[in-house]
Amino acid sequence: SNMDSMPGMGGHAGHDMSAMQQVAVALPEGEALRELPLLANEAGAPGLFKARLTAEPAVARFAEGKDTPILAYNGTSPGPLIGAYEGDRVEITFANRIGEASTIHWHGMPVPADQDGNPMDPVAVGADRVYAFDLPEGSAGSYWYHPHPHGRTAEQVYRGLAGAFVVKSKADPVPAAYGDTVLVFTDLRLAGDGSMPDNTMTDLMNGRVGDHVLVNGQKNPRLVVGIGAKRRLRLYNATNARFLRLAFHGAAATIIGTDGGLLEAPVAADEILLSPAERVELVISFDKPGSATLTTLAYDRGWMGAGRPADAGLTLLTVDVSKNPAEPVPPLPERLRPIAPLSVPAVGRRLVFTETMTMTATDMQMGFLINGKAFDMARVDIVAKAGQTELWEIVNQADMDHPFHVHGTQFQVIEHERGGKVAKPPYLAWKDTVNVARGETVRLLLRQERPGQRMYHCHILEHEQLGMMGILDVKA
Ligand code: C2O
Ligand code: CU
Ligand code: CU
Repeated sequence: SNMDSMPGMGGHAGHDMSAMQQVAVALPEGEALRELPLLANEAGAPGLFKARLTAEPAVARFAEGKDTPILAYNGTSPGPLIGAYEGDRVEITFANRIGEASTIHWHGMPVPADQDGNPMDPVAVGADRVYAFDLPEGSAGSYWYHPHPHGRTAEQVYRGLAGAFVVKSKADPVPAAYGDTVLVFTDLRLAGDGSMPDNTMTDLMNGRVGDHVLVNGQKNPRLVVGIGAKRRLRLYNATNARFLRLAFHGAAATIIGTDGGLLEAPVAADEILLSPAERVELVISFDKPGSATLTTLAYDRGWMGAGRPADAGLTLLTVDVSKNPAEPVPPLPERLRPIAPLSVPAVGRRLVFTETMTMTATDMQMGFLINGKAFDMARVDIVAKAGQTELWEIVNQADMDHPFHVHGTQFQVIEHERGGKVAKPPYLAWKDTVNVARGETVRLLLRQERPGQRMYHCHILEHEQLGMMGILDVKA
């Protein structure tokens, strides 16, 4: 595959604005939903999770008769599901066999800065490194892992490197009879020969949006449940740039958790917007026989140029609800866990997201900027103090939505402001990624507990790569 064709900063248009209009390859639908393979714990002692993750080229079979070269962790994409408990020590050896520098970033997890797979800490071609960290009490949540090397994150992720990391609580209030199913959404574009095309100029501007939204690597897989069943589902948007506005039809959805774990209480939901990198935990009640579906609704996230995908009405998952009653399950508790609201901030920050476009007769230069600057690995943008609560105001003055993400901690969104109207979020929640819509300002409270350098960026990975990222230096 062509791994070297992506520009780092900026980009040049002119050649491939129409390369988007290719014919999509058909993928089989309706196969039984595959559970993600579990990463085996090789530790002999309790309280320790020890394993190895090898990133290497692999071949996938998405379309009949067509081999697709991908990148995979331990041979699978999405990567193996990691399950560990609060209080565990984690030691994962990363073996980089993909032929270029990479890292593993533990998205959303409270790991020390030097274990977080930052672009400043690349793992060289052919090298191994151990990532080691402790999972604090209270850190149960739906996290994930993906590469974060300088200038190569977007391509390594869309070629297949991403997986889910669930931190479980020993005192989980959600009935075990609901199961616990992880659904990782990825976005696939296939050329006629089965290969994945490189990013085009349109992909760089808008973020890569593919032809097929996959669930655990499958298109519209099928799940069978008995009537009256309840299922706990963890939904992950692991796409580079696709906004998933989701609704269940024929079943009732309740939100029980977000990126950083459970809410205080369940909240009924007709629809959920999952921007790139966001997660949500749901309990689905299957109370009607027949077919229940998880589908997408139209969402206008802003788009530059031609080739905008029509996202409304895609069926991502089909559930056959049989007339045979399921084993009776206990009800969902009314309270899940307390969340302490972050207190009055000591410091306020303002981050303004903009896009710039400079045209010459032959060329176009794009910039995706925060406070007028493109990412520079040698520059610290913000200095903060460990343990101090800050108010961050994320201002989107650009023409498209940008999902804001910060490493090392979970934050609490307190306000969305648009056109002078201020809205409070409907519930208190721990988040590490929040969509900042076009023309919107999002205010959030943030506290970093550990010293070291942390990244913050737009999680449209092409934007991150083109400069929409900064460094936060947390001092002890
Ligand atoms: Cu999902 Cu900076 O990462
Ligand atoms: Cu992250
Ligand atoms: Cu962006």
